[in-house]
Amino acid sequence: MARKLFFIAVTLTMVFSFVAASFAFTPGDERKGKYMFRKTCRACHIDGGSAKALSPNSKTQAQWEKAFEKYDRFQCVAEWNKLTPEDRNNILTYLHGHAIDSPAPATCAQ
Ligand code: HEC
Repeated sequence: MARKLFFIAVTLTMVFSFVAASFAFTPGDERKGKYMFRKTCRACHIDGGSAKALSPNSKTQAQWEKAFEKYDRFQCVAEWNKLTPEDRNNILTYLHGHAIDSPAPATCAQ
């Protein structure tokens, strides 16, 4: 019995460390992130808007991660600060999942 529990514990540890290692951030709710991105960011970041159009496939996964670490240098930092850390993480989850080098690249129009 103890031996069985030991193997279960080892297996779980391996699974969790694999999941943790495959992302530099903890993935949030992609569906909510998509909604928030369209509602907040795309208000400006759209063709004909006040900033250049942005879609998930505008950047690589690494570039999105960097953008979300260092957004305080962007002109729109005030807009980011209006969101909760959870909202920002959900948006990153959406953008990261459909970045240009992701398995499922997407434009916002899709
Ligand atoms: C009120 C309008 C507005 C909103 C809302 C807004 N931005 Fe911006 N953003 C700008 C402007 C203006 C710039 C600087 C000019 C440019 O790059 O188009 C900028 C710059 C950026 C940049 C740097 C330029 C680049 O392409 O790397 C990123 C990334 C960015 N915004 C992402 C976002 C994200 C993500 C959101 C939603 C959380 C957001 N913005 C919300 C107006 C806005």
